[in-house]
Amino acid sequence: MKLFKNISELRTVSDAGTIKDAALIEEDGIIRWVGIATDVPAEFAEAETIDCGNRAVLPGWVDSHTHMIFDGNRAEEFEARMAGADYAAGGIAVTMEATRSAGAQRLEKLLVERIQAGHAGGTTTFETKTGYGLNTESELEAAQVAALHADDVTFLGAHLVPPGADAEEYVDEVVGPMLEQVAPHVDWIDVFCERGAFNEAQSRRVLEAGKKAGLGLRVHGNQLGDGPGVQLAVELGAASVDHVNYLTDEDVSALAGSGTVATMLPACDLSTRQPLVDARRLLDAGATVAIASNLNPGTSFTSSMNYCVTTAVLQQYMSLDEAIEAATLGGAKALRRNAVSTDGGSGSGLDAKGRPAKGQLVVGAACDLHILDAANAINLAYRPGMPATYQTWLAGKKVYSSR
Ligand code: NIG
Repeated sequence: MKLFKNISELRTVSDAGTIKDAALIEEDGIIRWVGIATDVPAEFAEAETIDCGNRAVLPGWVDSHTHMIFDGNRAEEFEARMAGADYAAGGIAVTMEATRSAGAQRLEKLLVERIQAGHAGGTTTFETKTGYGLNTESELEAAQVAALHADDVTFLGAHLVPPGADAEEYVDEVVGPMLEQVAPHVDWIDVFCERGAFNEAQSRRVLEAGKKAGLGLRVHGNQLGDGPGVQLAVELGAASVDHVNYLTDEDVSALAGSGTVATMLPACDLSTRQPLVDARRLLDAGATVAIASNLNPGTSFTSSMNYCVTTAVLQQYMSLDEAIEAATLGGAKALRRNAVSTDGGSGSGLDAKGRPAKGQLVVGAACDLHILDAANAINLAYRPGMPATYQTWLAGKKVYSSR
């Protein structure tokens, strides 16, 4: 049992709000109690004390959209883009050969390094997708490797039609043998519904096949222009639709009236020089939003959720509370890892599958903590680019310390 004390502000991301001069009790990886430090119940007197040094504490970031299973890099493509070239879906093929030939051992080593880098930036929950192998053998390998370390694994065979392949034949493979082999190792299926990738009919086939195989649905949509991705995601009950840069009024209303989370990927938008998502339009309409890093070699080679939150506040006109919520509870909702009922901080703290919930500091939830190296969380935006993370704790265990 641990007592985290000397917390300048505890951002619970729940009805309990931000508690000043707070303390938190952890036992067996679960939060047992949160409140004002002077109110810690006597029954916890024997807990090991962790002095947070008058720092702000948030839930660990929930990164609900990454592509951590790849080898190779696309620095040349990025440099060309910064010199004026457009982003196109086809670049995915550049890292395909490197990923296919890497081997499971190297892919796992890269994945572990990427997760450790995420911990160093306060992230405690990681979704990752396959999607850089683009054949049955390599997608299966990616899924198996991902399942060793990621919290949620998404099958993204429908990321791009591999060079030289026929689109319809490739979709047949994705929804047939590829899905059959990969499904036991993954939680979700995703499709890149975009010009240059998969059209509406192909995307629908992929999602319906995944649903039939028992997988949850996610969609990459509306990244490069208006398109059917959002409507398809809402119609089929996807947990999230990600990118959402180009939205019609109908898309915004559909999202607001649905359980589909609109996931924004600000680091990707900056790296591809797409307009940043109009977060206010989504929030003001009542849509649920998430912020994720979209770590991948092409459009967002960063796992820094701190950077994404900074961007959301400075450039997307989100308040600090909104940005923190989107990067914690919003991500948890996008992965269906949020608490189904917290009862103002004292409820079950379990998600719909009975697992300790993510993204909120409430009793019963996972004790995943991001301790900032500052007394005030606003430093995330006030001091952009400065080292922000002091320590990261995953299920009550320290996984990163800056010193
Ligand atoms: O989310 N949009 C599709 N997929 C990825 C990365 C694509 C790429 O590697 O170019 C993304 O941006």
